[in-house]
Amino acid sequence: MSTEAKQSTKKKKKDAPKLLRGFKDTMPEDQKYWEFVLSAVYKAARDYGFSYIETPVLEESRLFERSVGETSDIVSKELFRFNLPTPEDSDEVGVEVALRPEGTASVMRAYLEHGMINQPQPVKVWYWMSMFRYERPQAGRYRQHNQFGFEILGDTTPLIDAQLIIMVYSLYRSLGLDVVIPINSMGDPDCRPGYLNALSEFLGTKSKLLCEDCRKRAKKNPLRVLDCKQETCHEAVADAPQILDFLCEPCKDHFVSVLEYLDELDVPYALSPHLARGLDYYTRTTFEVYIKKNDQEEGGKLHAIGGGGRYDGLAENIGGREVPGTGMAAGIERIILALKENNIPVPSIHKRDIFIAQLGNEAKRKALRLFEEMRGRGWSVAESFSKDGLSAQLERANKLGVQFTLILGQKEILDGTVIIRDMSSGIQEEVNYTKLFTELEKRLAQPTVAKVLLDEQNPEEQEADMEDAGEEETTHKSEPQLFEDHNHGKEVDTD
Ligand code: HAM
Repeated sequence: MSTEAKQSTKKKKKDAPKLLRGFKDTMPEDQKYWEFVLSAVYKAARDYGFSYIETPVLEESRLFERSVGETSDIVSKELFRFNLPTPEDSDEVGVEVALRPEGTASVMRAYLEHGMINQPQPVKVWYWMSMFRYERPQAGRYRQHNQFGFEILGDTTPLIDAQLIIMVYSLYRSLGLDVVIPINSMGDPDCRPGYLNALSEFLGTKSKLLCEDCRKRAKKNPLRVLDCKQETCHEAVADAPQILDFLCEPCKDHFVSVLEYLDELDVPYALSPHLARGLDYYTRTTFEVYIKKNDQEEGGKLHAIGGGGRYDGLAENIGGREVPGTGMAAGIERIILALKENNIPVPSIHKRDIFIAQLGNEAKRKALRLFEEMRGRGWSVAESFSKDGLSAQLERANKLGVQFTLILGQKEILDGTVIIRDMSSGIQEEVNYTKLFTELEKRLAQPTVAKVLLDEQNPEEQEADMEDAGEEETTHKSEPQLFEDHNHGKEVDTD
């Protein structure tokens, strides 16, 4: 390489494009965590009757200004906003847009624009979307993060708020996370102004202790002082008036009912009279979710792994008719961090029963076909076709924790046979290729094909099979559980 070319390569290497600050690559080794969380969210969505919705990444900035609030940190400091270019042959003015910082406002916009008011109410939707906030990056706080969320639109009853919290609690429990749920009420437009006056008055006496932003917030939007991230502001508002003392009768009744429903199911909430959340659209119920143990250990500084509440005025604020709503969203990266920090075992996504090893070109071809055939019949099968040596392939099979490896070499191709190797004992046996599937079914603890057929049977037939199995039935019976714990009966990755 010439000196000039070397210098150019060196220069390119030096100023190679890098990952932006506050952004994060999701790497393959984390896939099992993503799948684990997604499958729990899917299950909750199915169990509680939510349908999937996805809105565009870009929205008019006005949507968030009118919902999340112009004085909120999310809109005043953290919105990624820019003007769309004006088309050359048009008089249109470039619209000011923003990368969505949260999902609730967009979901409500979609509900209004698609006339979902005409569907049976409430409309229950869930999402799994990237959000963008130009925040100061730190562990667990990213400029692009992912949230799953559940929104229930068109219903005002406290039972709906309580059931949402019950669902959320059960979802975290199914992930193996022990959580606590701080809860509060934000009142409504009738009673909140009285509270805001009292809060403003109080903040006036603490002005010197507040950060510069909070001194401004105290005048424009005093609630936002309650969720300031600065330690000094936290301390300054410790004795601030509590909204619960200002609630009107309907808001009080609503809140008491929510708590009674939660008590009914022993959901571990914690009354949190200064919980204001960082978004302006909340009315009545608000809550967050924290990891229980670490929260206490670290003096409550841990990030929330979820939050939500009721937003009965949001639809009108963005120019729609009156549509009540309640919902929640959770930061997926933060949940994954919590799973790792708490050493929660997560099922391996690469667990397979059978590995196919091949030696030689003919065997490769046959192995390729065998892999497709087995996969098509529902077998859980793995391969490493890019490797040629047997020991490298067996090493891979061991790593995947398979029970059996099928070995196909030149000799086996000629004889019409295949070797079945039991990976725990190392015992190998040659079987006729035509009898391979029957042999494997016999050997596998849970014959995959038979299991698939059983799964397809109707419940009566399955019950009859269970009765035939005699003892089996009693072994598998267990007490009904209200909040299912994680990993019951699941394979767990031990690496
Ligand atoms: P939020 O509390 O702003 O609420 O965000 C929801 C969750 O997203 C947080 O509890 C946290 O786990 C995660 N999160 C927020 N910001 C970041 C960040 N910068 N990096 C990593 N994770 C983050 C909302 O967004 C509301 N839309 C929730 C809602 C739905 N309320 C009613 N319905």
